[in-house]
Amino acid sequence: MKRKLAAGNWKMNGTNANLIELQTLLAAHPDPQVDILICPPATLIVPATRLSADSPLMIGAQDCHSASSGAHTGDISAPMLADAGAAAVILGHSERRQDHGESSTTVAAKAAAAHAANLTAVICLGESLTEREAAQTLDVIADQLRHSLPESVTAANTVIAYEPIWAIGTGLTPSTAQIAEVHDFIRARLCDCIGPEAAQAVRLLYGGSVKPANAAEIFAIPNVDGALVGGASLTARDFSPIITALENAR
Ligand code: 13P
Repeated sequence: MKRKLAAGNWKMNGTNANLIELQTLLAAHPDPQVDILICPPATLIVPATRLSADSPLMIGAQDCHSASSGAHTGDISAPMLADAGAAAVILGHSERRQDHGESSTTVAAKAAAAHAANLTAVICLGESLTEREAAQTLDVIADQLRHSLPESVTAANTVIAYEPIWAIGTGLTPSTAQIAEVHDFIRARLCDCIGPEAAQAVRLLYGGSVKPANAAEIFAIPNVDGALVGGASLTARDFSPIITALENAR
């Protein structure tokens, strides 16, 4: 049975003072029935991994470079993240695709680097509102998927997050039918890439305005194996009920 995954993306939020949220979360979920991953800003990876040592809470990063070292001022490599204690790294988030012009090819190179460093790659895909309104969603997802996955992908080292850009931080979410359509489509495409058994075992997360109030409904959708949560992952008060909803799903 694959473990579901509740992942939190803190984005550019949080200082040492916010680590108390992780302590509160751990106290509330000492023996979770799902995997829990928090991706704080890079500055907090080391203290967060120290705090969560010997606990079920995994810590991840939000990006890495595709090279393992070199003249890349301001960047952090996958081996460095592993050395800092990270277990995973989010790649190809739409905010990085937009703010830093990351192409799917770049994302694939980063994912290969993450895999080589034994990090789980959480690869993000998602369409813009314009693309959805033009009925291009599945074409966009197919294209991103085709170019963002390196050859090293396995069910164990890769998680796919479907995050429609228009749902991120807006309070808007797709209908359950729309989420189901995209997740079914991703699963089918993965089948073509890595075969049916591995494709079935890859965890597919939904992301975009997941809150305590809508989590149960989203987790009831077939082929949704968890969530990638932004704003509601910043506090234990909001993230804890989302974890519980995932534990109680199906
Ligand atoms: P929100 O949950 O704040 O909409 O953010 C989703 C997201 O981008 C997670 O990576």
